[in-house]
Amino acid sequence: MTLLQPTLAVPPVPSRNWSIPAEGHARRVRALRREVHRIADEVIDAGTFHFGPQTARLEQRIAAHWGGAAVATTSCTQALTLALRVAGVRPGDEVVLPAATFAATAFAVCETGAVPVIVDVAEPSLTLCPQALRAAITPRTRAVIAVHLHGHMADMPEILAVGREHGLAVVEDCAQAAGAALDGRAAGTWGDFGCFSFWVGKCVGGLADGGAVVTDSAERAARLRRLTDMGRERGQRHVHRDRGARARLGELDAGLIALELERQPAWLARRSAIASHYSEAFADLPVGPPQVLPGHRHAYYKFAVDCPDPVGLGAFLAGRGIETEQVYPYLLPDQPAFRHIEYRSRVTSRSAGAGRRLCLPAYAELSDAEVEEVALAVGDFATGAKGRKAR
Ligand SMILES: Cc1ncc(COP(=O)(O)O)c(C=O)c1O
Repeated sequence: MTLLQPTLAVPPVPSRNWSIPAEGHARRVRALRREVHRIADEVIDAGTFHFGPQTARLEQRIAAHWGGAAVATTSCTQALTLALRVAGVRPGDEVVLPAATFAATAFAVCETGAVPVIVDVAEPSLTLCPQALRAAITPRTRAVIAVHLHGHMADMPEILAVGREHGLAVVEDCAQAAGAALDGRAAGTWGDFGCFSFWVGKCVGGLADGGAVVTDSAERAARLRRLTDMGRERGQRHVHRDRGARARLGELDAGLIALELERQPAWLARRSAIASHYSEAFADLPVGPPQVLPGHRHAYYKFAVDCPDPVGLGAFLAGRGIETEQVYPYLLPDQPAFRHIEYRSRVTSRSAGAGRRLCLPAYAELSDAEVEEVALAVGDFATGAKGRKAR
């Protein structure tokens, strides 16, 4: 068997107006229109566009939410890159990460000059397999990135144990996991750094891009903050103490993300209720809802069902005006970009289950009627019923 093949042939997604889109952020932002205008007015009145009161409020809120210190960034990609640098990752080092993730996880490693070492994920969560991590460690391994995929945390106790045993920095990619927890301990607070995405499409997001790093070390937080602003300390505009980056978050995004964090518990409760509804509706169908392992709280960034024919199900739902998506149909080593960058693949067949997943709309902004419509359509597909007329 050749493993470096796409796990699935993905048909191009036609551009159309879906009656139920796969993601809910356009609805969320529209619903927050007044608040966005108010925050924009506050920013304009203050005349401070970076490192102002909105960013201070956001960092305080993140720290209150997750504990430790928080540093706002322009994206999770920057958060990961800067966290790896602060962790001491240098050119030529190796950083282990899972095969089923967004390319940004690996690109952040490349940005430091280190080599991404891509390993298997474990079923059913499709998160980093601790045994695969252990097997991939060499004398050059410096760090590991655990990705909490779809909103389900990786096996942090095991990953931390392996990491500590080998003196690795442990970075959590929480881009999809704001709200996830294991044994009551939030995603992002297990490793040395928790890196979040507040891209508009996440469960909590600004108007465009945003991110943050959480860490329990004030010293690391101070260095991270400096790195987000070209290596400068606050108030020292012309002194660059470090090779920094342009990674400071704008005030408008910061204000909106801070406001959304307040609402996030209610949104998470709604996502969880929708997930329970789907899980009950699919109980007798060959469509497996995401499994939540004991002790875990799922953040339901994605509701990824495991089904034998994800392409067929996606096409059937498209006929009913329901958009779905595959996250991620290709494992990292199968991406064209990896023909051009240095990486090592330690991927075996165990990661292949990623191609069987299809993500259904399951966001907080869905109405009850829409949730019912999706559940019925999935049922019709699974039972072979023709169902109602396609829209
Ligand atoms: C798992 C994962 N890691 C990293 C990222 C990168 O986040 P950002 O778009 O904020 O840079 C994403 C984003 O979409 C992601 O899903």
